Amino acid sequence: MLEIAGLHSGYGSVPVLDDINLAVGKGEILLVVGENGAGKSTLLRTIGGFIKPYRGSIKLCGEEIGGMKPEDIARSGLRLVLDGHRVFPEISVWDNLRLGAVIRNDKKAFEGAIEEVFAVFPILKQRLRQSARDLSGGQQQMLALGQAFVARPKVLLSDEPSLGLAQALLPPILDFLKRWAASGTAIIIVEQHIDIALSVADSAAVVERGRIKLTCAASELGGRLQQMSQSP
Ligand SMILES: Nc1ncnc2c1ncn2[C@@H]1O[C@H](COP(=O)(O)OP(=O)(O)OP(=O)(O)O)[C@@H](O)[C@H]1O
Ligand SMILES: [Mg+2]
Repeated sequence: MLEIAGLHSGYGSVPVLDDINLAVGKGEILLVVGENGAGKSTLLRTIGGFIKPYRGSIKLCGEEIGGMKPEDIARSGLRLVLDGHRVFPEISVWDNLRLGAVIRNDKKAFEGAIEEVFAVFPILKQRLRQSARDLSGGQQQMLALGQAFVARPKVLLSDEPSLGLAQALLPPILDFLKRWAASGTAIIIVEQHIDIALSVADSAAVVERGRIKLTCAASELGGRLQQMSQSP
């Protein structure tokens, strides 16, 4: 579904990503981990089109999207959830969800999707008529995820979905992402809570100083990281 080959990018003349090769299939969750400053967010922003790659290829369902504008990439079916501030602050929670929905003309599908969002984030249902601006940072994060969900993207990129949220919310969010992937979406998540995130991921990639140090099945990551820390 998403294939990245020989991708290099950075900020102006300061390179960050160095020869990234990655792939995520339909219905799969790839967990990206790495130290602070390794380049995880830069990777998601580059895929989303917010940073122009220096070179390399990013293919969405076989079509090259590398170098395209973020809005065109979004239109091709890729959605990037960075943090809660991506919601529209001036309008209500309800309008945020409705505007994000590509399925709003299919009343039944839309209502079904909205109910799924409310089941994971009941607070959004209670705040439906309030402006998004009046939500807390964590609640805006929930809204951003809900908005992405009703947009029914082919590929979802989520940068630290649990950031700013109570730890107790992480398992239901990950469970939500798991069910979301099962409906056919390819998902890349960056998450610091590796152990919990691994329980829903299919594969994992370790980023170190802008390079992919390791890719493996999610079930193998623990053992591989241990091996790496023991080798000289
Ligand atoms: N807007 C920017 N302009 C210039 N350099 C940046 C910018 N954003 C990030 N960087 C640099 O790019 C490198 C990778 O940063 P990035 O935010 O991608 O790391 P990360 O893996 O997401 O880290 P964290 O776990 O802290 O979120 C760092 O050296 C950082 O200083
Ligand atoms: Mg980051």
